[in-house]
Formats: sequence, C-alpha cells, structure tokens
Amino acid sequence: MIENTKKRKWDDTGNMQNSNDKQQKLSNASLDEEIENNPYLAHLRKTEKLIAGQTTAAQAEKIEDGDINPFTGKRFTQKYKDILQKRRSLPVHAHREEFLNLIHNNQMILLVGETGSGKTTQIPQFLVYDEQPQERGKMIACTQPRRVAAMSVAKRVADEMDVTIGEEVGYSIRFEDCTSPKTILKYMTDGMLLREAMTDPKLTRYSAIILDEAHERTLATDILMGLIKKVILFYNFFLSTNKIIIYLWIVI
Ligand SMILES: Nc1ncnc2c1ncn2[C@@H]1O[C@H](COP(=O)(O)OP(=O)(O)O)[C@@H](O)[C@H]1O
Ligand SMILES: [Mg+2]
Repeated sequence: MIENTKKRKWDDTGNMQNSNDKQQKLSNASLDEEIENNPYLAHLRKTEKLIAGQTTAAQAEKIEDGDINPFTGKRFTQKYKDILQKRRSLPVHAHREEFLNLIHNNQMILLVGETGSGKTTQIPQFLVYDEQPQERGKMIACTQPRRVAAMSVAKRVADEMDVTIGEEVGYSIRFEDCTSPKTILKYMTDGMLLREAMTDPKLTRYSAIILDEAHERTLATDILMGLIKKVILFYNFFLSTNKIIIYLWIVI
C-alpha cells in the first residue's frame, strides 16, 4: 500500500515534471521565435557567428536562406527570395567555395569569367559575407570604368541584398556620392577611387578592393593596379588581414 502511494506520488511528480518540461519547451520555442523575428533582439539570436576571412560557402548560404537580413535586421522580402533563386543559377555560384579558398590564401587574385556569369554583382556579395565589413568598420569597393555602370549595378545589388540604395550598398561617381556611414559595399568609378587614393594612399577605408573590367585598361584602373601593388606590400608588412583583389574580365 505504502509502496503504491509512493509510486503514485512518484508518478504524479514525474507527470508534473513532464508537463513543466513541455511548458518550458513551448515558452523557449516562442522566445526563440521572438528573438529571430524581432530586429531589436537581433543581438540575442543564436545564428552562427562567422569569423571574418574564414567563412565557408555553406555558412553564407545558410544566412542568405534564412528569414532575417543580417545587414538590416529586417525580414527578407519575397522579392529578395525570388532574386536569390536566380542568383544561385549563375555560373560563379558553383565556384563560391573555390573563390573563398582563393581569397583566404592570397592577397591578390585575378578572376576571369564570361559576360553574365555573375562577376560584377555576385563576387562583391561573396566578399561582404566573408569579410564582414560591417563588423570591422571597413568597406568593400568595386570599381567600374563607367559612371552609369557603377550606378546601375549598385542599384541591382541593393535589390539583391534587400537593402536601400545609398545605405548598406551605395555608389560614388563624380558629382554624386550616394553612400552613408552604413555603407559596406561601394560601387564607384575607377576615377573616384584614384581621387580618394590621393588623400588616402593606403586606401584604409577598404578591407577589399575589386577592380572590375580591368581588361579595359583605362588609365585610372592601370594606375590603381600599380598603386595597389604598393598598398599590398604595405599590408603584407603591417596588416596581413587586409586583402586586395584584382579581377579581370575577358570576352571569350
Ligand atoms: N539590373 C539587372 N536586372 C536584372 N538582372 C540583372 C541585372 N543586372 C544583372 N542581372 C543578372 O545578373 C547576371 C550577372 O550579371 P553580372 O554580375 O553583371 O555578370 P558579369 O559581371 O559576369 O558580366 C546577369 O546575367 C543577369 O541575369
Ligand atoms: Mg561585369
């Protein structure tokens, strides 16, 4: 009899314990959801902390496939998700891991690819996810020989990243600076970067520089190549974490 009572008590306690566990799990789940969805609780999210300069393609894709934009803290829009599907079918996408390995092991790389393969729009985004310029207070620059290209590509990439043009993604062309203190990816004419290099020869505002359309051999891009060679020697000596990337496009 005593044994039965004891057993029942033990059962009762066990059941109570279970229901407490269930309630706890439920409240944890709703709390997790709240943390994931509330931009003001972004700092509490359990999403993987990426280490700048050591990321993998899988880590970046997991964030891209998530619900929350890591750069704005807002929910990704349906438009973003639709564009993402198209971006994933671009040829450069299949080489994302290879690209990351290359930039992790080299300070300068030369990338050759066909027109429309995704060099201008995707490579800077691969770098944003890897370099995390927002954490380092630096920017990624992508130069263009033509003003119209700098402007239109920046707008396209702002849409692809689901951000407002002039904020996280901006452009800088002569007579128009469409950037803000939030800017982490800046498309600009090669002339504008050269102009900046006159007052900041070490290009300290950038953690990575892409010279797009380098095969066009514009005067500004050619001078920047020489300058960047010197900057790399400086960084090799003082700051081995910064990377400068040159990339070339040739018509095949
Ligand atoms: N403004 C845009 N609107 C819609 N699609 C675009 C736009 N810009 C680029 N794309 C798409 O992105 C793809 C890659 O473009 P891009 O990165 O400029 O290639 P690349 O620099 O290798 O020539 C294009 O094939 C096109 O499908
Ligand atoms: Mg291009």
